Amino acid sequence: MDKTITLLAGDGIGPEIVKAGKEVLEAIANRFGHQFTFQEAHIGGAALDATGEPLPEETIERCKNADACLLGAVGGPKWDGNPPHLRPEKGLLAIRQILNLYANLRPVQVLDALVDESTLKKNVIQGVDVLIVRELTGGIYFGTPRERRQIDGEEGVIDTLVYKKEEIERILHRAFQFAQLRGRHVTSVDKANVLESSRMWRECATEIAQQYPDVTLEHMLVDNAAMQLIRNPKQFDVLVTENLFGDILSDEASMITGSLGMLPSASLNSTSFGLYEPVHGSAPELAGLNEANPLATISSTAMLLRYSFKMSEEADCVEQAIRTVLNKGYRTADLAHNQATTCSTSEMTAAVINEINVAIHS
Ligand code: IPM
Ligand code: MG
Repeated sequence: MDKTITLLAGDGIGPEIVKAGKEVLEAIANRFGHQFTFQEAHIGGAALDATGEPLPEETIERCKNADACLLGAVGGPKWDGNPPHLRPEKGLLAIRQILNLYANLRPVQVLDALVDESTLKKNVIQGVDVLIVRELTGGIYFGTPRERRQIDGEEGVIDTLVYKKEEIERILHRAFQFAQLRGRHVTSVDKANVLESSRMWRECATEIAQQYPDVTLEHMLVDNAAMQLIRNPKQFDVLVTENLFGDILSDEASMITGSLGMLPSASLNSTSFGLYEPVHGSAPELAGLNEANPLATISSTAMLLRYSFKMSEEADCVEQAIRTVLNKGYRTADLAHNQATTCSTSEMTAAVINEINVAIHS
């Protein structure tokens, strides 16, 4: 198959990990007889430096004319003092909105080789496999007005949480559909005891659940969900929630696996197009050191193959290669707490590619 992939390296460790992802995709193309064409585009701080904007028009075009995008990370101290519309993060938020990438999938899986990496007890986390489905283009991230203003004659501020019913319904449908392919259980997380938006969310979830009789639905308040994720993460199969709650709970859930350096994500629209990125940030302190863990990005390429290209055998091959190199003892610094030797970004990537090249697919 011929496919075009836009690479958005971004800032900090972004270029190193996206390079790792590209090399893995090339190895897959080579092995399975596909033709992948790569095109690069600026986003975030790198785009600000090159063009003065966090998301230049050319980047939007290159994303729109691709079959999928692979992104590294955005942000860094260099741009922290910038006004809101000139922050690197603005580029990421804008591309999500412009491409209508409303469905954000953040799988949290504890791999056997890493079960001792977590700060949580082994018996609590062994076998955890949760899919967080985060609404990504609505809620308080995007509502207006959002500004500093005088309130009753005093200095104040306002952010606005907005959801259209249809935006809530479409993400809930996606969650139920993913649950049908997995453990058939949806936990819908909200704050229905306080927020009107959450009360609508809960009504929608209850109504939509009737169309998926093979899936069980449970409602959970977000504060309780934060606690349950640590107490007993194995109770979750698919966890679906709105934008801000999903942002917070996915960082929390990442610690079940021991390292934020392991978690991939997919941001999908209603077609097969998607933007894939590691959940972690740009780690400016590691930039250029060849020390960053490339596995979250490599794992994101597996999601890209699976969801945008419908190449499940190829995706399985990448995921198996990751498991194999971890079983063989390869560890980047973030994962190497119990080990004397660590490998670099490029060594880890080469090890994964080596497995892809030798793996025998049946
Ligand atoms: C994430 C990040 C982003 C978000 C930031 C960088 C804007 O934290 O993808 O989770 O809040 O969505
Ligand atoms: Mg986040």
